[in-house]
Amino acid sequence: MSTLSFDTSKLADFVGEEELSMMQPMVTAADELLRKGTGVGAEFTDWLHLPTEYDKDEFARIKAAAKKIQSNSKVLVVIGIGGSYLGARAAIDFLNDYFNNYYGDDERDFPQVLFAGNSIAPAYLNSLIKVIGDRDFSVNIISKSGTTTEPAIAFRVFKQLLEEKYGTEGARERIFATTDAHRGSLKTLADTEGYEEFVVPDGVGGRFSVLTAVGLLPIATAGGDIDQLMAGAAAGEQTYADADLTKNPAYQYAAYRNILYRKGYTTELLINYDPTLVQFGEWWKQLQGESEGKDGKGIFPASGNFSTDLHSFGQYIQEGRRNIFETMVRVTEPVSDVVIPTMDADDGLGYLQGENMSYVNRTASEGTVLAHVDGGVPNMIVEIDKQNEFALGQMIYFFEVAVGISGYLNGINPFNQPGVEAYKRNMFGLLGKPGYEELTESLKARL
Ligand code: PA5
Repeated sequence: MSTLSFDTSKLADFVGEEELSMMQPMVTAADELLRKGTGVGAEFTDWLHLPTEYDKDEFARIKAAAKKIQSNSKVLVVIGIGGSYLGARAAIDFLNDYFNNYYGDDERDFPQVLFAGNSIAPAYLNSLIKVIGDRDFSVNIISKSGTTTEPAIAFRVFKQLLEEKYGTEGARERIFATTDAHRGSLKTLADTEGYEEFVVPDGVGGRFSVLTAVGLLPIATAGGDIDQLMAGAAAGEQTYADADLTKNPAYQYAAYRNILYRKGYTTELLINYDPTLVQFGEWWKQLQGESEGKDGKGIFPASGNFSTDLHSFGQYIQEGRRNIFETMVRVTEPVSDVVIPTMDADDGLGYLQGENMSYVNRTASEGTVLAHVDGGVPNMIVEIDKQNEFALGQMIYFFEVAVGISGYLNGINPFNQPGVEAYKRNMFGLLGKPGYEELTESLKARL
């Protein structure tokens, strides 16, 4: 059962009907590259069948570990960067109460999940330690390579804190390592120290890893139903497998993006009308940007949090440079509602009193789409019926499979990320990391 709809009716002014069907031969070729494993980067496409072909024993261990953390910790610190935290953060925000992290421990059903290692800002780490205070906590260190600097620094800090608080043996019981099955410094450390380990599968890159232990352990710890999440993704796997463009909304999305890109629409905004989707936009930006921004090509992924941002860069969208298109993500059924109160005094809102706020929010989205279309901004709408795990799983899969097709349509490898190494090389050179000495002087001379 599909809970996701894809509406392209507002593209009519920008893309002719025949243009989509003309994409079919290219989409068929891209589908073959992806499904037959003949495309570049094919060794990183195991995410395609992850919703149905995942390690069931590990899945059971994830649930058991989540229960253990729920029983002995008030806080889970998730340490990771990029694909090693964005998916979990997006899902937890989407599935939980907005102010979940602000409630006292007694008012929350599950541990607070807080994130570290996604920057190198020392004050952030100090504040995080302060917020944990003397409460019981556990740590999930996540790094596929096991060598990434940001999480490695944060992990040293939290390992030390755990060992001071619980002793070496007690700390070991509270550290969960999610990393490569065979190699990397974190794998070696976890083996040596005897941490419980979870695997980032070989054929799944970081930004496609939310449906592995990378996302599942934090999500389950925060109370998410990971069975339903996988069931939704499995529905996506089934629904978005057809190479026929008329039958596959995810492939249509990829094809329309490609058509728009060729017409000069080089920036895509993922739009939401609800703060619980802000982090989903961050996850999506990595998925799109790291997959497609290569060889001097690619759509620049950005996000818009509406109606908030309509009062900041809304002006630009409406009348600025015409190279933007929007994809709105919307949930049909509100999680809860507010009736706009009646009031005797006239504040100009009399025509709305007694209405639901969700009606106003939806109407705002409809009005904005029309205004932006009139202003020359093509719009597409991805709508899920409910704000739950099943719908989220399906939507995650929708965007993952679309970016695979989209990348092949644009003639790049959607599954590598060579550009991410450039800043690391310079940072290591400047920091004097062994092996990078020859870079140090030339970089310092350029500062
Ligand atoms: O998608 C990716 O590959 C990256 O964003 C990585 O997830 C990120 O760089 C973190 O890498 P690692 O998990 O190896 O620490």
